[in-house]
Parts: sequence; C-alpha cells; structure tokens
Amino acid sequence: MPTRLVSLHSDQASLVLECRADGPPLWRHLGARVVEGDLPSLSDSRTAASFSLDVDVPLSTAPAAGLGWFGPACIALRRDGRALIPAFGPVWVTADDQAIVIELSDALAGVSLRQLIAIEPGGAFRLSAELVNTGDKPICVDWLASALLPLSASSAGLISWRGRHNAELIELAEAMPQQAWLREGRRGISGHGGPPAVVVLGEGAGHHTGLVHALQLGWSGDSRIAVERDDEGFWTLSAGAIFQPGEVILQPGESLSSPEAILAVSTQGRNGAMAQQQAALRQRISWPGGTMRPRPVHLNSWEACYFDHDAKRILGLAQAAADLGVERFVLDDGWFKGRSDDRAGLGDWIADPVKYPQGLKPLADAVTSMGMEFGLWVEPEMVNPDSDLYRAHPDWALHLPGRPQPTARNQLVLNLALPKVRDYLFGALDALLSELPIAYLKWDHNRDLAPAGGRAQVLGIYDLLARLRAAHPMVEIESCAGGGGRSDAGIAAHTHRFWTSDNIDAVSRVSIQRGFLAFFPPEVMGAHVGASPAHATGRSQSLAFRAAVAMPGHFGVELDPRKLNDTERAELAEWITFHKQWRHLLHGQQTWHGHGADGLVWQAAGNAREFLLFAIRCGPAHDRRPQPLLLPFLADWPSCEIELLRIAGGETGHAAHRPALYDTPQCCTGSWLAHAGLPLPPLKAESVAIFHGRLAA
Ligand code: GLA
Repeated sequence: MPTRLVSLHSDQASLVLECRADGPPLWRHLGARVVEGDLPSLSDSRTAASFSLDVDVPLSTAPAAGLGWFGPACIALRRDGRALIPAFGPVWVTADDQAIVIELSDALAGVSLRQLIAIEPGGAFRLSAELVNTGDKPICVDWLASALLPLSASSAGLISWRGRHNAELIELAEAMPQQAWLREGRRGISGHGGPPAVVVLGEGAGHHTGLVHALQLGWSGDSRIAVERDDEGFWTLSAGAIFQPGEVILQPGESLSSPEAILAVSTQGRNGAMAQQQAALRQRISWPGGTMRPRPVHLNSWEACYFDHDAKRILGLAQAAADLGVERFVLDDGWFKGRSDDRAGLGDWIADPVKYPQGLKPLADAVTSMGMEFGLWVEPEMVNPDSDLYRAHPDWALHLPGRPQPTARNQLVLNLALPKVRDYLFGALDALLSELPIAYLKWDHNRDLAPAGGRAQVLGIYDLLARLRAAHPMVEIESCAGGGGRSDAGIAAHTHRFWTSDNIDAVSRVSIQRGFLAFFPPEVMGAHVGASPAHATGRSQSLAFRAAVAMPGHFGVELDPRKLNDTERAELAEWITFHKQWRHLLHGQQTWHGHGADGLVWQAAGNAREFLLFAIRCGPAHDRRPQPLLLPFLADWPSCEIELLRIAGGETGHAAHRPALYDTPQCCTGSWLAHAGLPLPPLKAESVAIFHGRLAA
C-alpha cells in the first residue's frame, strides 16, 4: 500500500507527515521546501538499531512517555493520582493545502487529542493542540505541548534572549546543546527577555541566508521552550505553557486548548524568519475599524513629570506636545486617587480630587480640542494595600493562606481568576472609557507574580481585555510591564502596541529593538525620544541620534518639550514631521537587519520597490575609512536609486571633501549594492545615516 503523506508547503518550507492507521502521524520532514513524491514508508527506509525495541517508535506528532518513546513527551496526564499513558489510535487526519487536522483518540485512557497545523499568511506554521477528557473520571493535565517537532541533525546553533527591567532582549548565541536546553519563564508574565521564543540556526545561517527555524509561543504566562538532543542523532524542539501542579483538572467532557506556537521556517536566514514572524503577529492584531491607521505620534507624560501632576501643569505639557506636532497625548501614572508616589492608589480608578478637582474631563476635552487623541495609563491587575479597594477587599489579592504575601513596588496582584474581580475592573475601566474621550489605554503590569496566579490569571486578563475591547472597539491598548515585560503573541490579540523598554537610551535601544523586531512588526514597537541624559542609564546622546533610533517604531516623545531650548524644540518638531513623512514605508512593510564592517549595524524597512535604510554606528570606528555596506536584500533589483537623506549625529573627516554621494542620488544595480556595497559616510559614534532607496526606472 502506498504511504499516505500529508504536507504543507510555504514559499520556503515544507512540513511532511506520514499517516498511519493505528497511531499519530510520523514526522518525515520539517525544513526547506521539497517535492515529496512517492516516498517509501519510514519503516521501509529506517534501519534497525541495536538495543532498541523490536517495534520501532519514531517521532510522531503526539509522542507520549512510557510505551517506547524515550524523548520528550507532548503530554503528561494523571488520573486517580497515577500516570495515565495514552496510546493514540484510531487516527483521523484531514488536510488541504492550508491546514492539517489530526484527531487522535484513546478509548482505554479516555482522552482524545486534536492537533492543528496551519499555514499563516506570510508562510509561518501555526501549531496548537486541544485535549478532551472522554472518560468518566477527572484527569489532571501536567503538560500539553503546543508544538513538539524535529530539528535536523545539521542544526548548528541557538539564538535566544534574556533580560531584566531596563535591559530587555539581550541576545544570546550558543551552540546546539549536547543534552537538553531549556528556557522557562516562571514569573507569571512573559518577562523582560522578550516573548517565549527561540531561533535555531542551520549550518552557515545568518541574517540573509541559510536555514532558520524560529518559534514563538502565544502565551503571556509561565512557559517552557526546550531543545533536546536525542541519541537518534537529531534534536527535538518543544514549547508549551507551564501549569502549576494540580492546576488543570479536566472533568469528564471538558477540554483544554494549548496556546498557539508560531513556527517560521526560513531558507532566507534570520531576515526570512523575521518576515514570517512579523506577518503572523500582524494577523493577531485586531485594529479598531479593521485596518491600521497611520500610527499617531505620542507624547507620554511619565518621564516629563513622573507623579508630579497638577491640572495646569499637565495642560501646559499637552499644549507643548501639540505645538510639536504630537498626535496623541498619554497621561501616565500619577492621575488617580491618592497616587502621589508608588505607595498608594492602585485599585482606585478615579481621578485624584486634589490634582484634578474637576476630574479628567476638562483635560481630556482640552487635549482633543488641541487636535490630539487622549490616552490614559492604567495598571488594572494591581492593588496597593493603601487603597480603598484593598481596604474593602483584601481577599481579592493573590495570596496563600498562612504564607507571606510579598509586595513589589508596594503593590499586590489581584486574582483575575475571580469573576467578581474582573467585573469590578471592567466596571471601573468601562466608566472611564464611557465618560472620557479616551482613544488609548497604556495597560501596565509592574511586578512579577508571587504567589503565582497560574494559567487562570492569564486567562483572566485575556478575558478582561476581550470584554473591554468588545465594549469599546475603537480604543487601542498598549501592553506594558515595566517596559517590555509582557510582549508576546498571546496578549497581541488584545493590544496594539508594546512599550518596548523603560530604557530609552538610544544606544541601549538599538539592540533591544532588534530583538523585538525578530518577532513583532515595527508599527507595534513603542519607540520614544527621551531626555538627555537618559533617565535609565545617565548617558547623553544628541537629539538627532535619539530620534533616528526611535524613527522606525511607533514614534513618540518621552520628555518635557518646555525644558528644551527653542533650537532643540524646532529640531524635535522637524523629526516628528520627518517621521510622519516616512511612516507609510516604515510600518506594515518588511524589515531587514544586517551588520556592516567595524561594528556598524543596519536596518531597512520597505518593500520590493522602495525602502528606508538606517546605518547605525553606536561606538567609534576603528578603521580609517568606512567600508561599503553590503545589502543582500537588494540582490535581485535591476537598478536602485539611493539617496542619503540625512546623517543623524555626526560625520568624521574633512568637510571640504564631500563625496558626491552626500548630495546627489546614486544609481546602482541591486547586485552591486548586495555584493560590492553602498559607500558610506564616515560616521561618528552615536550616529545614524538614513538613506532612501527606490527601484530606478
Ligand atoms: C512602568 C512603565 C513606565 C511608566 C511607569 C509608571 O515602569 O514601564 O513607562 O508607565 O510604570 O509607574
């Protein structure tokens, strides 16, 4: 009988499974695009290995421990306190060119498992699983993988990220593990290391070429990503939400859905994987009105005045923002009852009667009459012990009887698993959104969870966000957690922007933003021009460098423009105009990253006809002259007209000797730019050269 294969093919990749009547499908290929043809079955092409079971147990889509599979399991279950070992069969597989659905059942164990693998617009694979208790007794679920897949024996290395508040997304590169590699998040939020994710590099893979697998999990709570070497000679990659012991009990008939895993398989290096991940993320964002509007330029009040609010001062700040060309004014922390510092007020979501005796309405109306949208900061999941809410409902905060209840930033976490807590928060936020012309909420979450809230806490926040979005569909929401502590594809389904980091130092931001863009598109990357010296690092940088680094993202200002002199204010206003002029090419398009010689990094944004290029020098050059910048993404362009728009920061060398490149657009072939390179001006440390390129006629 011919082998029944089911497969999904993207432009670059193929995923091929072999179906069997009596067990889950077997993995045959997950990598570069292939034509599978008439393959012999795996059993006809696999040799026997000594000291192995007489029945071969290759990697299937649903490996379980205990019956001859010795690698990681996709599922771990208990019934009556003992391990429940599923052996799936019968099997039902349906497939078209967009999706494969695998339905597995085990009558003896009383469980069924439905696995879905689909192609996302942009080419990434989406994987998820749903488990049903078909038996007549409760089942405890200890683990349900969203994805468990093979990585080829030619995999060469891993890229991942770690981070802390003010230092998000620090990139780590390491060789493939000889045993197991684990990235677990246990803080209750996805955390400052960025989304639960990993990138696997094939041999020789880099930004522009080579086989790359990149996986992110759409989950905002605890998670596990594991890469494990198997003694068969290949690696497995698995990803899923972590459950607390005993947390997930399925009663008869109940089901459990895993978060989605998004897997990019690229033959065009890390840039190809980034394009697939950004496209998949774009699918998750639900824009008010159905499509993304040009991203309005923000001014956020936090670093301009911290908690020091009064109605008059804030009105002055708003006017200064409007004068610069800002389009959305966001009133950050400090506006609500009792909030004169971070010791009190969280939970009481009404305007502070001392700072805003008439409430926020006059301010919000004034902001809108200045032609700006009004945005408001909230941190709904939190409560200060010094608040009316806590005094009335101390039991609403997460706690374990008889155990300490540690505060962080003087606050506790509300138990979002409780419907009455969600109802209270919905009521408080709904009242604000109904009373005030609020276009935008900056939704913060300023601590790790201890005691843990588990899966129920994550589902609770998703539920609350969904309910608010349904009631106020035109309101955009930003996900913030002390900067980028909750940036993931799970919360992206309910939000429209991420606050990338509280560290706005432009040198720090270069690498933070590169890590962010590996999984998220630039239009959701909050990127502000902060003060100099930067509040988070104490380093000083020119206004031009700060603005140029923020330019590719969702642009904003995080300073008090009234503290700038007239020249600086005019310069900032000009950058805002420049951003507005180009945001159509920066957002909703493709991103490319690369390295130049001598410590230079670059980023381009655009499409097959036009792009903006940012050549970024953070530290001083060591070489006498800058070397031409290779731009492999242009290799297929017949001809490109490329123009230096500006140098943000400064250039070194003799002003008298200005190469023609500076003043007139140059025309080159794409292959020249890809392989011989673009001549660069000699940049000073902390400078960005911004070029515009377009397909020449
Ligand atoms: C967090 C955010 C900041 C600001 C403060 C307010 O740290 O990341 O941007 O909103 O909270 O307390």
